[in-house]
Amino acid sequence: MTQLRVLITGGGRGIGRAIALRFAREGAKVAVAARTSAEVDAVVREIDAAGGHGSAQQMDVTEHGSVEAAVYRAVEFAGGALDVVVNNAGIFEIRPFDKMDIALWLRHVHVNLDGPFFVALEALDALYESPKPHIFNIASIAARQGFPGNTAYCATKAGLRGFSDALRIDLAAKKVRVSTVYPGATDTTIFDNVPGPWDRSKMNKPEDVAEVVWKAYNTPAGTNVDDLDVPPRA
Ligand SMILES: NC(=O)c1ccc[n+]([C@@H]2O[C@H](COP(=O)([O-])OP(=O)(O)OC[C@H]3O[C@@H](n4cnc5c(N)ncnc54)[C@H](OP(=O)(O)O)[C@@H]3O)[C@@H](O)[C@H]2O)c1
Repeated sequence: MTQLRVLITGGGRGIGRAIALRFAREGAKVAVAARTSAEVDAVVREIDAAGGHGSAQQMDVTEHGSVEAAVYRAVEFAGGALDVVVNNAGIFEIRPFDKMDIALWLRHVHVNLDGPFFVALEALDALYESPKPHIFNIASIAARQGFPGNTAYCATKAGLRGFSDALRIDLAAKKVRVSTVYPGATDTTIFDNVPGPWDRSKMNKPEDVAEVVWKAYNTPAGTNVDDLDVPPRA
């Protein structure tokens, strides 16, 4: 198999890191992007140790200029094409609606919606250079179901699902596959500052999401990989 060229946002920890390492195990070139340089640098070392070739990109997905520059560098690193783009960077904060403030709402819109839009826009030309291009948008079960205190998260993840559905239609002629991924609760740092009785032992692991993404990428053309659930661990 030729060496895959991959870009993952929010690749410094959690689900993004696991996806990066899954592709690294197959020898891929993986650019990981996030705001915290130390974390993406550490993941690049793990990618290289796992058999891949990593590149750290500082990127704030809420800033179009930052995305443009980081995608440009990632494409250069990848040699001019991207096979896989994973829009994974996301935030999750719980706030009952009667305590909601505008800043929290806008934060979710900027990271969870503007981010994937900016990244897809800037990565498009590089995806067109791939023989098997694929965009994965990491949504959530909250894209399909309401949860308490989750108006901003549910709205932006449902919005990401809608973005995916329409993007798939627009890119079909160019054979770019677009998948929406719907993980349930997954044991990552996203829960560190979220109040609630979380039982992390019952959650999925980031590697479960990574496996779903890896398997979907490797399905033959024509397979329906539009909507990808992540089954709970037995
Ligand atoms: N964990 C779950 O239960 C779960 C369930 C369903 C869906 N998801 C989704 O899965 C994705 C990954 O979640 P996770 O659980 O792995 O979260 P996490 O452990 O908090 O990691 C989030 C990643 O996103 C990056 N990020 C956040 N804001 C960013 C920004 N403005 N620009 C660039 N990168 C940014 C973070 O890096 P920096 O802070 O360094 O930028 C970090 O690398 C998210 O979209 C989340 O909504 C998670």
